[in-house]
Amino acid sequence: MCGISGIVHSENIGRNLFNSIRNLEYRGYDSCGMAMLQQGELDLRKNVGGIDEVNAIEKLDQMQGSIGIAHTRWATHGGVTQENAHPHLSPDRKFVIVHNGIISNYQELRERLLSQGVVFESLTDTEVFVNLLEESYSKYNDLEKAFLAALGEIKGSFSIVMLSSHDPDHLYCVKKESPLLLGLGEGCNYVGSDLNAFLEYTRKAIVLDDGEYVVLGRNEYQIRKVENGELVEKKVLHIDWDVETSKKGGYSHYMLKEIFDEPQTVRQALKIPREQISGFAEMLTDATHAYLMGVGTTYYVANISQYFFSTLANQYYPALSSDEFSVVRIESGDMVLALSQSGETYDTKTSLEYAKTHGAKTAAVVNVMGSAISMMVDQVIMQGSGPEICVVSTKAALAQTFIMLRVALELGLMRKQITQKDYQTHQQDLESFPQMVEQILNEQSGFVRNIARATSHVEHWLFLGCGVYYPVAMESALKMKEITYQHAEGMPAGFLKHGTLSMVEPALHTLFFVPLPEQKVLHDRTLNAMEQVKTRGGTVIAIMFQGDERTLAVTNQAIQLPQMSSLCAPLAQMIMAQMFAYYAALDLGRNIDKPRNLAKSVTVG
Ligand code: AGP
Repeated sequence: MCGISGIVHSENIGRNLFNSIRNLEYRGYDSCGMAMLQQGELDLRKNVGGIDEVNAIEKLDQMQGSIGIAHTRWATHGGVTQENAHPHLSPDRKFVIVHNGIISNYQELRERLLSQGVVFESLTDTEVFVNLLEESYSKYNDLEKAFLAALGEIKGSFSIVMLSSHDPDHLYCVKKESPLLLGLGEGCNYVGSDLNAFLEYTRKAIVLDDGEYVVLGRNEYQIRKVENGELVEKKVLHIDWDVETSKKGGYSHYMLKEIFDEPQTVRQALKIPREQISGFAEMLTDATHAYLMGVGTTYYVANISQYFFSTLANQYYPALSSDEFSVVRIESGDMVLALSQSGETYDTKTSLEYAKTHGAKTAAVVNVMGSAISMMVDQVIMQGSGPEICVVSTKAALAQTFIMLRVALELGLMRKQITQKDYQTHQQDLESFPQMVEQILNEQSGFVRNIARATSHVEHWLFLGCGVYYPVAMESALKMKEITYQHAEGMPAGFLKHGTLSMVEPALHTLFFVPLPEQKVLHDRTLNAMEQVKTRGGTVIAIMFQGDERTLAVTNQAIQLPQMSSLCAPLAQMIMAQMFAYYAALDLGRNIDKPRNLAKSVTVG
């Protein structure tokens, strides 16, 4: 998704501004650019391609000036071309802007401007705004008034940052339904579409709300309401994310680093105060109907959670994909619990809005502080997993699953479906899980890598599991598809014989998520499906637990985890499957941290 950055300083900031968009790379983009004010003139450089490619041509990091804006673009309106890349400059070269979101009425504005003789250079919705700025400045001869007048003409969702040679000391910023934050430094200030734009330079941040605009100087800022110009007092947040955690730290890819961050991520999830966890459980108990919602990986986390709630609290809450949520008739008294790493996902955000409009209570587990979803729900749990840079979600998904397990346990106790003694035992299992994760990461990665290498050529996979292991299989199949570009289908193991079995032959590989033998019913069902594949000549690979001789006898290859509690077992398997996908993609030479066609946070519909 597009990324915005802006800096106002007293020194040359070319290099810092360039770094700031590098820190936004993980959002996914296809072009980038920077604009700076140099000796009263706007210098604009942009092109298509990755940051280093564009820099090699445009020398972005050598640009001069103490005020500037930058952008990484993920094409929506207009193809991937140099003209469509941001920033966009006005015809008189006095205004330059970067924009995230969509100006929904841009067609009619464009037509009006065209009829007045304006010549457009790009096919973007954004370029209309820079023309409106030029037009309104000629009317008001005052930059702030011109900015507001131009804003008055556009509709849609947007965050915009403007730089103009009419005011060499300030950036003009606005936020409406697309994230924008300020970073406060010493003698310098920053603006960004997310914290990573300026986290390297400051930890002090302000989250802008919808309908606010800012005149941002290097030593001061004024935040006002677009509606009436009223000054707004904002809370300054101290961001405790460690900058180092957002760097690769010696790993070849962010994905691998983030998998190895998982013990720490679980520790953080354990630190979430019990009151917050029981707050969610109470909301669920009080609701007439409750729904679990997410999309992509978070939908699968919702599916896994469905099993936790049913097993531990004897409650069935349907899991729905955010993009399909509108099928549900929501009424006052209902509740929606959403999951979102970024907190900005369009489908999840709009479905929460829909639920709120119909009177539902809302709650969310979110990773990014100050994100739209974290601010809009009635109750939020900040998962504290630290920045997840790789496009695919690993540590954040694991932490969300773990947090939902905690909520289900709390609900189970509240609803007297588990005893205090069982609760304590489960709690101990959860507390020992970070150490278990460390152990399996250290012990298993070599085995997983070998199997992944040996099978990386396989183009079609079935990932199969029973009970809670079924959504684990689906999530793992998504991970495999995202980074290897190979086909993997997650399916209930018992479903196989109802049709898909016809595909089985030696080239078809199956990855089974085998429960602990003590989970007898699930274990037997899984084994049954494994035998069906084996007897038809299919290849059987298993993620299983040590000491399970029956399973071992059926597999071609196996990843054998140490015995652990049944609560943590599916989570441990999820980690192994993340690693399996990683090593397969590594062997195939894929762009693991930024898979083709994907963006970290999907903020458009
Ligand atoms: C995860 O690996 C995916 N890239 C994707 O499915 C993601 O989980 C989904 O877009 C939801 O994102 P969110 O957690 O930021 O809301």
